[in-house]
Amino acid sequence: MPKMIVVTREGTETTVEGETGLTVMEVIRDNGFDELLALCGGCCSCATCHVYVDDAFTDRLPAMSEDENDLLDSSDSRTAQSRLSCQIPFNDALDGVRVTLAPDD
Ligand code: FES
Repeated sequence: MPKMIVVTREGTETTVEGETGLTVMEVIRDNGFDELLALCGGCCSCATCHVYVDDAFTDRLPAMSEDENDLLDSSDSRTAQSRLSCQIPFNDALDGVRVTLAPDD
């Protein structure tokens, strides 16, 4: 299974494995990172699954939808690395990706 490095808001790094077919949000949540609230369950309507994705993997991510872009715009902590983790399917192309949980807005 491909691996993902999850960096918490406190800066702790943990490497986890994720099943392909899940979203990045589901992999993070299923590995017990409760600080990623993901309140809408992946419907792209809450922005509580906001993460920063390592630059090296930007090209391997799906294009951002208008809804995702609008939701991220509502965040004070948006950066060029910002994505909603529920909108990123996890797969072998993302093996080794480093994902940092964005601060709570
Ligand atoms: S879980 Fe709500 S937008 Fe991602």
